[in-house]
Amino acid sequence: MIKTVFLVGSLREKSYNMMIAKHIQKRYADRLEIEILDIDLPNYNQDLDMDGKRPEKVENFNAKVNEANAVFMITPEYNHGVSGVLKNAIDWVSRTPGLNNKPGLVASSSMGATAGARGYNNLIQVLDTMPMYLLPGNDIMIGSVHEKFDQDGNLIDEGTVQFIDLVVDKFIEFYNKVK
Ligand SMILES: Cc1cc2nc3c(=O)[nH]c(=O)nc-3n(C[C@H](O)[C@H](O)[C@H](O)COP(=O)(O)O)c2cc1C
Repeated sequence: MIKTVFLVGSLREKSYNMMIAKHIQKRYADRLEIEILDIDLPNYNQDLDMDGKRPEKVENFNAKVNEANAVFMITPEYNHGVSGVLKNAIDWVSRTPGLNNKPGLVASSSMGATAGARGYNNLIQVLDTMPMYLLPGNDIMIGSVHEKFDQDGNLIDEGTVQFIDLVVDKFIEFYNKVK
C-alpha cells in the first residue's frame, strides 16, 4: 500500500475535481491508501511560518504531507492559473521537507474543452521549484468534466475511467522505480 495524500484545489461543495479525487481514492483502494486532505487553510503568512506560531490546521496539514509516501494533486483552472487554495497549501508545506523526494501525480479538470490545461501547466511550474518526482509524460487533464458524472457523483465516462486506470498503473510502476 502506498500512503498517499490528495490535495484538491476546489473547496466547492459539488466540485468535479473532488469527485475525480474520490473516484481515484475508491477505485484503487487495494493499492493506494489515499487520504484527501483539508486544504481550506489560513492565508500563507511568513511571519506565522515558524515553530509555535503556525496555525494548528497548517501544522496538521504539514504533518500529513510529511508522513505520506506519495502526493496527488488536482486543480481547476482559475483565471488561467492554479487555484489559489492549492497554491496556498503548497506554499505552507513548501517550507518543510514534505514534498521533497516524493513521487507525485498531477491532474486538472474543467467544464471547458481546454481541460484546465493552463491551470495544470501553472501547477507544474510551481512544483518545479521542489525536488518532487512527478510522473512524466502522462497528463490527466479532463475536459467537459460536468458531462462525465452521474447524479450521485460517480464517474460514468468509460473512456475517462480507462484513461485514469492507465495513468494510475503507470504511476504505481513509476513509484516502485523511484523509491
Ligand atoms: C474564479 C473562477 C475563474 C475561472 N477561470 C477559468 C479559466 O481561466 N479557465 C477555465 O477553463 N475555467 C475557468 N473557470 C471555470 C472552472 O474551471 C470550473 O468552474 C471548474 O468546474 C471548477 O472546478 P470544480 O468543479 O472542481 O469546483 C473559472 C471559475 C471560477 C470560479
